[in-house]
Amino acid sequence: MTPITFAIPKGRISKVLVPLLERAGIECASLNEDDRTLVRTSRDGSVRVLLLKPDDVPTYVEYGAAEIGISGRDTLLERGYDLYQPVDLGIGKCRMVVAAPKGVAIPELPRVATKYPAIARRHFAARGIYPEIIYIQGSVELGPLVGLSDVIVDLVETGSTLVQNDLEEVEVIEPITSVLVANRTLFKLRRDELQPLIERLRAAALHHA
Ligand code: PRP
Repeated sequence: MTPITFAIPKGRISKVLVPLLERAGIECASLNEDDRTLVRTSRDGSVRVLLLKPDDVPTYVEYGAAEIGISGRDTLLERGYDLYQPVDLGIGKCRMVVAAPKGVAIPELPRVATKYPAIARRHFAARGIYPEIIYIQGSVELGPLVGLSDVIVDLVETGSTLVQNDLEEVEVIEPITSVLVANRTLFKLRRDELQPLIERLRAAALHHA
């Protein structure tokens, strides 16, 4: 039988994701280890795991190169994919926020540095504010410190990056978690195989929560 192709993100989330996959019966050799193999097949041969940059997961699934995947809601909200989202796994909990230098008044039309320009634009537009949005790929917290921007829109998990850079949360835009995504067409074609796998992942996620 053709294995199910499952796109999963590499990086920070692996620590919680790998045990969750194992609880769901997807055991792959050394998923956690620093190994450059990008495709792994599960021990029982039923699942082929692709290890991807987090932002690429929804692309693989939307184009049907993988039937299912795990993606952060941040990426889904930013880029708007047409994907079936059967389960919120509840892992990778963090929040998308507006943050600014501690104790400094924010101008009415702030300059915003962010890796999430669409989310930022929508958030401010809903308040009738159309600020200049400056796209940054990472270390966004630097923006206000060097006068690049007045505020940032970014993910906060523990809050320690903000604290260490003298910034504070001004507003929470969205709570963010990792969700299971599936290609709509492939889900219909392989529903009999995918549904039980999705249920196992759902149960493993509940156990984690
Ligand atoms: C993310 C995010 C914040 C940080 C928040 O960055 O963009 O910078 O984590 O985490 P904390 O609230 O627990 O401190 P990441 O480490 O993924 O790297 P990046 O800055 O290169 O995007």
